[in-house]
Amino acid sequence: MILEREKVYDFVLRSIHAWNALVIVLLLLGGHVAEWLGYTPDAASLWHFHVLLGYGLVLGLVARITWGLVGPVHARFTAMWRPRAWWRMLRTRELSSAAPDWGPPVAATALYLLFYLAMLTMVVTGLALAAIDQGSGPLYLWLGHEVTLKHLFREPHAWMAHSLLAFVVVHIALLILHEIRHGVPLAQAMVSGFQYRKVEREEE
Ligand code: HEM
Ligand code: HEM
Repeated sequence: MILEREKVYDFVLRSIHAWNALVIVLLLLGGHVAEWLGYTPDAASLWHFHVLLGYGLVLGLVARITWGLVGPVHARFTAMWRPRAWWRMLRTRELSSAAPDWGPPVAATALYLLFYLAMLTMVVTGLALAAIDQGSGPLYLWLGHEVTLKHLFREPHAWMAHSLLAFVVVHIALLILHEIRHGVPLAQAMVSGFQYRKVEREEE
């Protein structure tokens, strides 16, 4: 089997991906452990740490949006916004029917965009909860200690956290399955920056 490769994901994009992945895993873990600890001093400290990590996520999201607007071609949001290719994929019902070009796989792009929307929802509801629970953050002036409004933000925050967990599990599972099925190294692309694909042999 012959493979060709191309440098696709630049260093900044890979660093943002690693940062966001780490922060999201810690937010998920911290959120669930603090919830489980109930009303204890340890839980209170963990919630403060959760909000601190939340600001880390704000940073990661702002960095990704900025890079999506000014970064190199494969990092841009135009590489993810592929309505024509999605439509072609739906019509032919073939996940790989979209042109095998370099960059994020078409079948994954819509999911990645939805993921960023979910991240934005987490940030907005999280900042609202920080203002209500801890009297801190940029939304304090509007929502500071407004406990009667807490359920409005807590429910979507908790539900979206479940969706993000599902995304992470599916994302990693698909990377592994894809590698096993097609024998092309995929997961390493966000580490090395190189994407690989099989080269069709010319007919003899
Ligand atoms: C644990 C939490 C993780 C989250 C939240 C996450 C999230 C994402 C997102 C949002 C993208 C879209 C890329 C973009 O912004 O342009 C992406 C792409 C990618 N991620 Fe992750 N990721 C995680 C873990 C991992 C891990 C552990 C690997 C394996 C090393 C990995 C490998 C990749 C690859 C190779 C892509 C490129 C696109 C593709 O070929 O599908 N990710 N990830
Ligand atoms: C990917 C991002 C995030 C995840 C996965 C996450 C996860 C969680 C989880 C699982 C809970 C418990 C919800 C429940 O079951 O009721 C929670 C609550 C909370 N989160 Fe997040 N969170 C994220 C982002 C943020 C951000 C950005 C902030 C603020 C800057 C934040 C602030 C809070 C606060 C204040 C609470 C409520 C604590 C309480 O009810 O006393 N979160 N989060």
